[in-house]
Amino acid sequence: MGQIKDFLTSNHLKTKRDYHARSVNEKPVFATLAKKFDQDYWDGPREIGYGGYKDDGRWSGVAEKFLSFYNLSENASILDIGCGKGFLLNQLHIKRPDLKIKGIDVSSYALNNAPSSVRPFLEIGSAENANFEKNSFDLVVSLNTLHNLELPDLVSALKKIESFSNGKSYICVESYSSEQEKWNLMRWQLTCEAFYTPREWEWIFSLANYTGDYEFIFFE
Ligand SMILES: C[S@@+](CC[C@H](N)C(=O)[O-])C[C@H]1O[C@@H](n2cnc3c(N)ncnc32)[C@H](O)[C@@H]1O
Repeated sequence: MGQIKDFLTSNHLKTKRDYHARSVNEKPVFATLAKKFDQDYWDGPREIGYGGYKDDGRWSGVAEKFLSFYNLSENASILDIGCGKGFLLNQLHIKRPDLKIKGIDVSSYALNNAPSSVRPFLEIGSAENANFEKNSFDLVVSLNTLHNLELPDLVSALKKIESFSNGKSYICVESYSSEQEKWNLMRWQLTCEAFYTPREWEWIFSLANYTGDYEFIFFE
């Protein structure tokens, strides 16, 4: 089993979340819209998603954490599954232009609104159906994406990450470790399908033979 990392938690904790404001009767309508991962989700009102998703400067530090921990060799390759607007890949590209980057995501809106410097390296694709050669990337990452998959697709995606990676991988998923965090997650989430405690997640990782690193995001 890989290591538990802290690449995203400090940024996650900086964001203020009004859980109560998300507990409205229209929530199923908003969630249905959010799950299209179209403009509403990224740059529409806060009730439907990010409420305007920009790189506010946070991704530079996240990229530095990845580079410092994974110590990638010259021209190493990175795949980001569920790359969204490509903010992580963009910062990695700025800091290490030698790296071969690739991002896939189901959202054409996100890819079309990624920084122009990384757009050529992004393509439509889903975590569960992605098709790359075995061991073809030096590092495979997936940030805050896999909890959006139903269990059969989730297991399939984990197996794929394990297969595509030549040894190094990292995923970040939402979780809860108390009734309060469970309640906060239930109220906040719009697109989540996988609601698990760390123990359950780790059980799923072993079921899928996923041996990479991971991080859990908690809603405190
Ligand atoms: C919370 S966003 C995270 C985006 C990006 N990783 C980031 O941290 O900025 C979740 C992402 O998962 C993507 N997504 C949802 N279902 C997916 C799937 N089955 N395969 C690949 N990406 C998916 C969405 O389009 C969205 O980009």
